[in-house]
Amino acid sequence: RIAGPSGLVIFGVTGDLSRKKLMPAVYDLANRGLLPPGFSLVGFARREWADQDFAQVVHDAVEQHARTPFREEVWQQLAQGMHFVPGDFDDDQAFEQLREAVEQLDTSRGTSGNYAFYLSVPPRFFPRVVQQLEKHGLAEAPPGSWRRAVIEKPFGHGLASARALNALVHEVFAPDQVFRIDHYLGKETVQNILALRFANQMFEPVWSRSYVDHVQITMAEDIGIGGRAGYYDGIGSARDVIQNHLLQLLALTAMEEPASFDAESLLTEKLKILKAVKLPEDLGEHTVRAQYTGSWQGGERVLGYLEEDGIDPSSMTDTYAAIKLEIDNRRWAGVPFYLRTGKRLGRRVTEIAVVFQRAPYSPFDSTATEELGSNAIVIRVQPDEGMTVRFGSKVPGTSMEIRDVSMDFAYGESFTESSPEAYERLILDVLLGDANLFPRTEEVEESWRILDPIEEYWATHGVPAKYPAGSWGPPEADEMLARDGRSWRRP
Ligand code: BG6
Repeated sequence: RIAGPSGLVIFGVTGDLSRKKLMPAVYDLANRGLLPPGFSLVGFARREWADQDFAQVVHDAVEQHARTPFREEVWQQLAQGMHFVPGDFDDDQAFEQLREAVEQLDTSRGTSGNYAFYLSVPPRFFPRVVQQLEKHGLAEAPPGSWRRAVIEKPFGHGLASARALNALVHEVFAPDQVFRIDHYLGKETVQNILALRFANQMFEPVWSRSYVDHVQITMAEDIGIGGRAGYYDGIGSARDVIQNHLLQLLALTAMEEPASFDAESLLTEKLKILKAVKLPEDLGEHTVRAQYTGSWQGGERVLGYLEEDGIDPSSMTDTYAAIKLEIDNRRWAGVPFYLRTGKRLGRRVTEIAVVFQRAPYSPFDSTATEELGSNAIVIRVQPDEGMTVRFGSKVPGTSMEIRDVSMDFAYGESFTESSPEAYERLILDVLLGDANLFPRTEEVEESWRILDPIEEYWATHGVPAKYPAGSWGPPEADEMLARDGRSWRRP
């Protein structure tokens, strides 16, 4: 899988995402030999940079963030195809310059008119950039070549704005030209959910309401909001990651086997699940949102959310959210899916825990199984990538005592191959035109359909709960599960 002749234009090239993820990913792809020799990288931003200045910025980003070792010959080859266009998004002249640059690279680097436009810009600029691409003839591919638009989340603030945004983008780009980034889908372990479920015979038979008690999907982060107050406040944890990453994880965990592993079949199955998601009737009982308060975390005193730079001290934005969902279909009816996420939690961990029902009958003395928990299959998405199976085993000794043990699979132990960073894989897929790992319009809209009523409920009922930075969330979230007779796993 090597990309053919092509180039990538990044709007918002001075931003964090571009420096930390996109530039290093391009270099890593080149270093792994996955880009064509004439690959071109064009930056567009409001800076008075010459091409060399831009190349220097990319160089620094690569030095700091690339995964693969620095190799001068790879860098030189790549750097020759770097070009910078100064300008803002209203500047017609700058877009003309961009068009000329692209045409010129077609000749000098052999990019053959194949370009992906990466909109690494705040969503309020999407409409403008898309219109300008159309106006200056950049959106339409010359015969025999392709043009693609890559869009970063948030895809709207709710269903209505997502629809408006989608309509606008699709006025200019056809659905198969649009690649929406949900970087969780680019993660090795996330793709492995499907391999695990559908390439094996032993998991699928128990993957249903007949055996599963409930599913917990956790995305915990130890970091706060860093310098992202402007983006985060007013958005919050649920819109930031539940609407996209966590609902995608839910869809992959719960979906039926696709007819084949192509974008259309995957979409069909994921969409069926998202459509079948049912919200609890009493949102007050089955959802919790909260904000972190100042505390000690990892030996360091950290600020509470409301004290962070750039945050309105009366902000009601959630930095933690826990919600209970159900899936109305034959496989899952009655099985709760608990989703939770938060900033400034105990540690960084993302996992999917499929927790099984208790054995229907125990021939052992009740004291023998006192310490036995529920069986579980835990897919460890990050950082300790792998899978754990938890089950009970007899404690060595003369009496019968059964206790939980784990069987572990760790990527680092089983494979010598290293996995590419999510953005590497996704950029390569864009250049290849492989849409498997990109959520479609329908999925995005369906996910908002799920989240909108919750956000609406929160906006009109009460205030966010509190949890100290470094903890595992507010007591209200524990109570939410306790009411169902369950408890959160401590990853
Ligand atoms: C992003 C969110 O989508 O995912 C961030 O906007 C979050 O708030 C990030 O920190 C987490 O990504 P990862 O890959 O570090 O789990």
